[in-house]
Amino acid sequence: MKGIILAGGTGTRLYPLTHAINKHLLPIYDKPLIYYPIATLMLANIREILIITRSEDVELYKSVLGHGQQWGLKIDYAIQDQPRGIAEAVIIGEKFINAEPFALILGDNLFFGHGFKSMLHEASQNRQGATIFCYWVVDPQRFGVAELDKYNQVISLEEKPQSPKSNYAVTGLYFYDAQAVEFAKQLKPSLRGELEITDLNRIYLEKGLLKSVNLHRGFAWLDTGTHESLMDAGNYIATIEKRQGLKVACLEEIAWRNNWITDMEFLSCYENNKGSSYGSYLKQIFHIGKGSDDSSIIEKIA
Ligand code: TTP
Repeated sequence: MKGIILAGGTGTRLYPLTHAINKHLLPIYDKPLIYYPIATLMLANIREILIITRSEDVELYKSVLGHGQQWGLKIDYAIQDQPRGIAEAVIIGEKFINAEPFALILGDNLFFGHGFKSMLHEASQNRQGATIFCYWVVDPQRFGVAELDKYNQVISLEEKPQSPKSNYAVTGLYFYDAQAVEFAKQLKPSLRGELEITDLNRIYLEKGLLKSVNLHRGFAWLDTGTHESLMDAGNYIATIEKRQGLKVACLEEIAWRNNWITDMEFLSCYENNKGSSYGSYLKQIFHIGKGSDDSSIIEKIA
């Protein structure tokens, strides 16, 4: 399966931080924000990734991520110069998608929690229809909102409703079958001039082809669009990482444990990050070795 990361937008709510730097390259504690959606796709076993961003940012992305070989990935880039909506990513990515199922994730969405990998695995096995992930929030009016029945099936979807029918926000991670491209081409821009992802998902809903997965209350879904949420996300990751001594969204670690890169390639990633605590972590886990389950890694790190 392939994955698309939508990392354009203007980041106006983060001004002046984003006057010169694309939001997704800002730090979340010890790594750039874009590492987190990349890690999500990697956990879904996705190695071919298209990053969609503004033309002026592509070179900067390439200097941070290259084409992903260091992580056993193949990263390509495509352009969205105007924020014409999340669903436009599907149209921009048509050639890359190549009439196959794919995942789409927003570049500023961060997921963390137990059991995520198996949820991703299951969603990626669903070859027909679409899968969305819903999350209970206190302020649903800021998001696409899903109304669910008692079996957690979606009854309705609304984009940023003034009177939300539920507290379930639709998160920025979607799995689609190949029909998404044709459906996205049928969409008309909303009043705010965007091709809305909620409208695309509604097409799947009306055809009885939309599956919804609930991210339970022990799970973290953070977005990072404002100064406060950016800081909260950084503090959250710092707290988890300092407590366990294990990193969240360490791309080298995921690639190495998946055997997508060799020991030598992993060590060259270490050389690249030597001097930072991130680099020290790579060295530490290399000495511990892989093949361990989480609990034995934790014992050895402690
Ligand atoms: P938003 O937070 O809605 O938009 P933004 O990033 O431009 O920020 P602001 O509202 O402060 O101006 O976007 C959510 C994510 O989707 C973010 O990662 C950027 C991405 N995005 C695009 O890449 N293109 C688009 O057309 C839209 C609407 C969003």
